[in-house]
Amino acid sequence: MEKPKLLVVEDNSSIATQMKWALAQDYEVLLAENRPSALELFKKERPPVVTLDLGLPPQSGGVEEGFLALSGIKENDPSAKVIVITGQDQRENALEAIARGAYDFFSKPIQIEELKIVLHRAYYLFELEREHRELQERLKIKPFEEMIGTSPQIQAVFNSIRKMATSDAPVLIAGESGTGKELTARAIHRLSNRKDGPFIAINCSAIPETLLESELFGHEKGAFTGAHIQRKGRFETAHEGTLFLDEIGDLPGHLQVKLLRFLQEQKIERIGGREEISVDVRIIAASNRDLKEAMKDGRFREDLYYRIGVVVVLLPPLREREGDILVLATALLQRYSLENKRNVIGFTPQAIRAIKTYHWPGNIREIENRIKRAVIMAEGSKITPHDLELASPFEKYEGKGLKEAREELERDFIQKALLKHKGNVSKAAEELGVSRPSLYEMMEKLGMKKE
Ligand SMILES: Nc1ncnc2c1ncn2[C@@H]1O[C@H](COP(=O)(O)OP(=O)(O)OP(=O)(O)O)[C@@H](O)[C@H]1O
Ligand SMILES: [Mg+2]
Repeated sequence: MEKPKLLVVEDNSSIATQMKWALAQDYEVLLAENRPSALELFKKERPPVVTLDLGLPPQSGGVEEGFLALSGIKENDPSAKVIVITGQDQRENALEAIARGAYDFFSKPIQIEELKIVLHRAYYLFELEREHRELQERLKIKPFEEMIGTSPQIQAVFNSIRKMATSDAPVLIAGESGTGKELTARAIHRLSNRKDGPFIAINCSAIPETLLESELFGHEKGAFTGAHIQRKGRFETAHEGTLFLDEIGDLPGHLQVKLLRFLQEQKIERIGGREEISVDVRIIAASNRDLKEAMKDGRFREDLYYRIGVVVVLLPPLREREGDILVLATALLQRYSLENKRNVIGFTPQAIRAIKTYHWPGNIREIENRIKRAVIMAEGSKITPHDLELASPFEKYEGKGLKEAREELERDFIQKALLKHKGNVSKAAEELGVSRPSLYEMMEKLGMKKE
């Protein structure tokens, strides 16, 4: 891995060499011994962190050159972290430097180990701020109104939506549940020439088979018992617009035939009707299952698949849209926090890690639900893994050695057993599968008090 750049501005060459030698293992150290060369090097190399000796030539005793160098650097890049180095007993100057934008100060003689810690923190902070800035930038990009995402995967989806929107060809949207199939269908409609016409959605798996045919194609009066009046189906209501057939894999066989007929001739027939009705409808279908599988099993007609699947939009699962996960989480947090009038402003670092590593089987719908809930449940201003119900059972052991972790676990187990048996050591020991004396011994070793 490349070492981060560090600019050391120091006119005393022996101190400069010493610092370079001590820090070269962790940083790519760049040296400058006066203000002009420091600024030149800064502009060229853009180091995130600078250590700046305030006493620079021509008046190494004064601090004016140092202050000028500080403002020069901050003007160039306000995000740079400048650690000012002053002579002994120059607290005034150090505080003045902080007021002028320095990140921290240090007085000579320099304690290298301390400096290393300060540097480490400065880089960490710089990195955090940079990530935050990038996130804010990315949140501003909203190509499809409510559809959030800047990953290459979702950009490819946006591109194909744009390309196919103006054609009338049927579209098949495939993707796991919660990946945004319906939202995609609406986006296609909104960008199409049919945008002023209706967008009618119907979920083929949610309507009983006996009603589905009439829902889709309508019926004539008296077509079946209970058909007291003539009724138009969704195909007709979608005239000059878009019909979204969700879960098309669940369309019963005889309706697959009728749909195929429509795709070939743009005509439908109401149940019990004797004439064909021409309708101008674009079909968008969605499926969260593999239709090819269904086709092999004979549950989905091959000829229909080839008609409906001329254009396929494949929605990637959220776990494959790495760059989007945090963007989505942040946008959703802002939305729900506003909606619920809660002052929840962010995520703890642990929550960010949990969000990044979780595999999101329920995709965007799941992240919406978890964050909505977390915003309501959060006790502080930041959401924790616990609020998201993503707390890892290992979290409490983090940074601990095996021995310490084991003891922690033993302590938890014993405590739980004792609580359960209301402090009765014999019963707790029995539950834990140890003898009473050895439980006492363990408790003593773990520093646990009997109550
Ligand atoms: N790119 C996105 N940006 C923001 N929100 C999104 C995005 N994609 C989907 N959503 C939201 O996620 C939820 C699920 O989306 P949608 O209903 O379109 O998914 P679906 O694939 O049809 O899901 P299902 O298979 O469960 O029907 C919706 O609340 C939707 O608003
Ligand atoms: Mg859906």
